[in-house]
Amino acid sequence: MSERKVGFIGLGKYLPENRLTNKDLEKIVDTTDEWIRERTGIRERRIAREDEATSDMAVHAAKAALKNAKLKPEDIDLIIVATITPDMFFPSTACIVQNRLGANHAPAFDISVACSGFIYGIAIANQFVKSGIYKRVLLIAAEKMSSVTDWKDRATCVLMGDGAGAAILGEVEDGGILSVYLGADGSKGDLLKMPAGGSRLPATASTVEGRLHFLKMQGNELFRHAVRIMANAALKAAEPLGLKGDDINLVIPHQANIRILNAVAKRMGINPAKKVYLNIDKYGNMSAASSAVALAEAVEEGRVKKGDIILLDAFGAGLTWGGIIIKW
Ligand code: UT7
Repeated sequence: MSERKVGFIGLGKYLPENRLTNKDLEKIVDTTDEWIRERTGIRERRIAREDEATSDMAVHAAKAALKNAKLKPEDIDLIIVATITPDMFFPSTACIVQNRLGANHAPAFDISVACSGFIYGIAIANQFVKSGIYKRVLLIAAEKMSSVTDWKDRATCVLMGDGAGAAILGEVEDGGILSVYLGADGSKGDLLKMPAGGSRLPATASTVEGRLHFLKMQGNELFRHAVRIMANAALKAAEPLGLKGDDINLVIPHQANIRILNAVAKRMGINPAKKVYLNIDKYGNMSAASSAVALAEAVEEGRVKKGDIILLDAFGAGLTWGGIIIKW
């Protein structure tokens, strides 16, 4: 019997209404619109309302994906939420979403893979569908990065945004996921982390005073690793299929920095202006949600056509990374 082909049968997204522009940030920290645009490619980002949690954004994106797939919540066999900004430590955001959707018979769990969460989630969903254990997996990547952002730290607060993307994976007749490559390097975990709030440093008055419940990043060193690792992940995903840069119709990368993406494209020998999908200018870095929203928008805008070869490529805290090749 030939192996099941696993692909995307529905996509959705949700972006909060509130836009925070670079000009707005000039009033909050010592920065300029020019610095942010030139160093990162970001013009504005969306910020969730105070009363809007990660699960709220996740539910919106999931409903959009269900509508897109013409499915009902009860058709979903498994829910995975990729997030590093869950509503709370437990219960998982996936369980909160399961209840809100009424997807009553679906098991549900979160994965914590930072910016590579959507890629890891696809890898997991792929296995469940391929093995025949589940028919339809709802994967949501949702982040309220503004809730872990230090609005006094200009080096990080200009980078992040909030949002959610969702995908339903299931069996397809043609194409689908052709190759998956994942990686991690825990020895470099200190480059990007939120130090307090877990069992190592539970919340106390002093951790709050020390601003340890916010994201800390060594941006410069991370940048160097990002270029090398994302280019390598792309290569590793393409290699088993014998694909070269030219064979790829569109790269849909994690959106951390436009300079990283241009450098990765150069190493892959592809033209970034034509073949790299970008939405960092509108949304900033939404961690796991970045690739998920980018995929949903690329398809919505007609940038992805049937038969196209797509590369998803991500890198983030952990360190973690992954590359996935899909035939659409
Ligand atoms: O999501 C996946 C993981 N994340 C990443 O992969 C992000 C990787 N890193 C980056 O994207 C870049 O390193 C940043 C965008 C974070 C920073 O850009 P950079 O070109 O590496 O800047 P830098 O950290 O080397 O800082 C250069 C200068 C410094 O000033 P001095 O020391 O040269 O006087 C910073 O203090 O820019 C200064 N600076 C700023 N200036 C204006 C840092 N942030 C800002 C700011 N506005 N917001």
